[in-house]
Parts: sequence; C-alpha cells; structure tokens
Amino acid sequence: MRPTLLLLHGFPLDHTLWDANVEVLRSKVDVIAPDLPGFGSAGLTGLEVTMESYAQAVLEDMDRRGIGTFTPCGLSMGGYVAMALVERAPERMAGLILCNTRSTADTPEGMIARETTAREATERGMDVIARGMIPKVLGRTTRAQNPGLSGNIERMIARQDPQAVAAASRGMAKRRDRTDVLRAFYRPALVITGAEDELMPLPTSQAMVEALPSGELVVIERAGHLSNVERPDAFNAAVLGYLDLLASWERP
Ligand code: MLT
Repeated sequence: MRPTLLLLHGFPLDHTLWDANVEVLRSKVDVIAPDLPGFGSAGLTGLEVTMESYAQAVLEDMDRRGIGTFTPCGLSMGGYVAMALVERAPERMAGLILCNTRSTADTPEGMIARETTAREATERGMDVIARGMIPKVLGRTTRAQNPGLSGNIERMIARQDPQAVAAASRGMAKRRDRTDVLRAFYRPALVITGAEDELMPLPTSQAMVEALPSGELVVIERAGHLSNVERPDAFNAAVLGYLDLLASWERP
C-alpha cells in the first residue's frame, strides 16, 4: 500500500490552497486534502472549534477511509492541527511536516487579536478580512510579482463562512504550547517556512527544529506565509525529498 500524505490547510482558507501541490505529490504517495470543519464545503461543528476537535474530525475521516497511519502536512493553522494529531494519536503518524507554523501558544495580546478577528468576520464580513490579510499572508516578492495569486488567495479567504472563521479564531486562542509534543516525536520530521514569512518569523521554525529529535528545516527564498502556493516547485521538491527520506527510514 502507498503511504498517505494528509494536507491540512491554514486559516481562513480551504483545501484548494493545495491545488498547486496535490498532483505533483501524488507521484509518490496517496494525497488527501480535506476541508477542515466549517471551511470550504465542510459543515461547521460549533461556535468555537479547538485544534483538538479539528484533529478529532480528521481522525474520524481517516477511520472512515480505512487509513491507519499517515503523514500530516499542515500549514500554519493546519500545523496546529497536525501537532494536535501527533499528541492525540502518535502511533498513527508515519512522519510530520510543519509549514509556516509555530508550536507555541498565543500571547495574551495575540488572544485579544483573535477575538477582534472573530468579531470582524461576523460583523464586517469576509471581504474586509480578506483585504486585510493579503499583505500579511503573502511575501513581498509575491505581492510585487504575482498579482494573479494575490487575487486568488483574496477570493479564497472572502468565500469562507464568517461563523467558521470566528470559531477557528477563538479555537486557535485556546491552543496550548505543543513544543513538548515535538520533543517526543522521534520519527523524521520536516519544517518548511518562507524567508519572507512575517507572521511566523524564522526563529519560530528554528525553535521547532531544535525541539524535534530528528527535524530538518527548509527555508524557501522569495516566499512568505503561504510558501506552498508562492513557490510550489521549491515546496514540492522539499516535500518529495522528505518523503524519500521517510521511505528509506522505514526500510533500513
Ligand atoms: C494561518 O495561516 O493559518 C494563520 O496565520 C494561523 C494563525 O493566525 O495563527
């Protein structure tokens, strides 16, 4: 059986975030890219959705599909969910890929900003959120050189359900520091970030690599927070290289 790679999108996005990656990665593994509860076409499950409950929904989906072990690859909020998965079901994790994310919890200021985002989404609408987020989620090179991608991402954000965005924002504020989960993960892991990611500056990725007993860091130049769409070739190459490493680790 081919190994399974589970792609977990960031906030406030949906599975189409992975459109530039899925086919290429399928050359090596089976790829599943679901919508997290409330996003894309997936139904919302509550007014506040914690990272643990996203992880639970993902595990139930994998059970329904008959998939035992898999490698989660989560970008930003998807990375928080991936770490919650590792905590919840470490025996089912073949590997781990964390992209443009952090293992630490929100600061008190960060938690206040989450509530502001939740209220803005429901009171002012997703167009306002989308316009405000573009300068933060895309690197300066992408914004200068790829207006088409900026438009796609803005539309992806704008079409999300404001209630789901509020629920995720409140859920992210509640997440705990999971650096200890990384310290206990002994299989090979990959950390990817963009050199122009201002939301998750390089030290957050370096800290995760230091915590992981067998972690490797790939920094993608000229990419910001959405490294998988800003530089898909570099991103896909990093993931394919890691999948080769994982396969040789499984068969020493
Ligand atoms: C994301 O891209 O998922 C968000 O930036 C995560 C966050 O706000 O912490």
